[in-house]
Amino acid sequence: MSDSPAKFGDYGGQYVPEVLMPAIEELTDAYERYVLENEDGFMDDFRARLRDFGGRPTPLQHAEQLSERYDTEVYLKREDLVHGGAHKLNNALGQVLLAKYMGKARIVAETGAGQHGTATAMAAAHLGMDCEVYMGRRDITRQRPNVFRMRINGSKVNPVDVGRGTLKEAINETMRDWATNVEDTHYVIGSVVGPHPFPRMVRDFQSVISEEARAQIREKTGGLPDSVVACAGGGSNTMGAFHNFVPDEDVALYAVEAGGSSLDVDEEKGVAPNSASLSTGSVGVLHGARTRLLQSRDGQILESHSISSGLDYAGVGPELAYLVDTGRVTPVTVPDDAALEAFHRFSQEEGIIPALETAHAIAYLETADDLGESVIVNISGRGDKDLESVLEETAKRDLVNAPEMGVFE
Ligand SMILES: Cc1ncc(COP(=O)(O)O)c(C=O)c1O
Repeated sequence: MSDSPAKFGDYGGQYVPEVLMPAIEELTDAYERYVLENEDGFMDDFRARLRDFGGRPTPLQHAEQLSERYDTEVYLKREDLVHGGAHKLNNALGQVLLAKYMGKARIVAETGAGQHGTATAMAAAHLGMDCEVYMGRRDITRQRPNVFRMRINGSKVNPVDVGRGTLKEAINETMRDWATNVEDTHYVIGSVVGPHPFPRMVRDFQSVISEEARAQIREKTGGLPDSVVACAGGGSNTMGAFHNFVPDEDVALYAVEAGGSSLDVDEEKGVAPNSASLSTGSVGVLHGARTRLLQSRDGQILESHSISSGLDYAGVGPELAYLVDTGRVTPVTVPDDAALEAFHRFSQEEGIIPALETAHAIAYLETADDLGESVIVNISGRGDKDLESVLEETAKRDLVNAPEMGVFE
């Protein structure tokens, strides 16, 4: 790996406009002092708040039905039980607290599925900070309950109408706000993407997932799992679930991407009906980092697609791209239909309604043939936010296991 902390091999870096450099440098300095060196007891404060406000540690649960179905011991890392319903709070709380230690008064954030926006709004209310969240108009329609939650927690939600109105455009708008208001504002980015120090810092905040899971599986089984499976949008729950297992060469790591409706690309229309940047993308620069992207031959970012808003992103974290290139992480894809089927199967068989993003990780168990004797699946979030779109999408399909909804008629 490159010696520069800003790089992962040739990926990462700080491809940002000049106006953002002072903010990036200030943030890098704060990250090194507070997060890496625990200055003023920052990390102790963060861990205590994750416990008392966030509800950590989350359990590692043995999934009996799935273990029987797949003939391997399936363990669920229950990030859906973190306050707010997803792993997103681990990072949002860390960054909002960091902003407070840096003396900032205002928080801006982007959100796709609304889970990161919700987590940031909760953390901002908890820590007494002003908060504005940018969200694509299309995502606002797909994720209404989360929009209400952000407003109820006292955050402003700014609809983004540019482009397709999803995560990519929301990130652009938030960067623009940050560049204009760097003096008093911190940008809480929602995944392991963006310019250095974001990918490393967000990974560090999320790595509590694998720190706990590694200790928990050893306590339960006396050893390490054969594999770890997590869904990958930008890749923050993935990197969080993988980080402490990366040195364990015998533990296979699977990043499950959204295969959408097809893995093919329509170059003419500029559309990739999937979000599988690790599996099908090529190298380019997006949102301040060199990484793997869905782009045309001319370098135009393609429109991505996934049934789940949180995976619907044309890029991916640079560290994950690097780990795929080195062969440490295996990227796999799950199409929309299989994710929806897994959503229903998991709800019926395990009594847990998963986020549609998470349903991709769960669906991978159905086709995988190489998971070994035990597997940890990262349950990145709960599915309450998705109920409206699940009902709508289920009605359009002939799924083998969809529940009969006639009770409402
Ligand atoms: C529950 C859940 N899982 C996964 C993701 C994907 O993000 P990441 O790849 O950064 O974990 C999201 C994004 O909103 C999410 O809400």
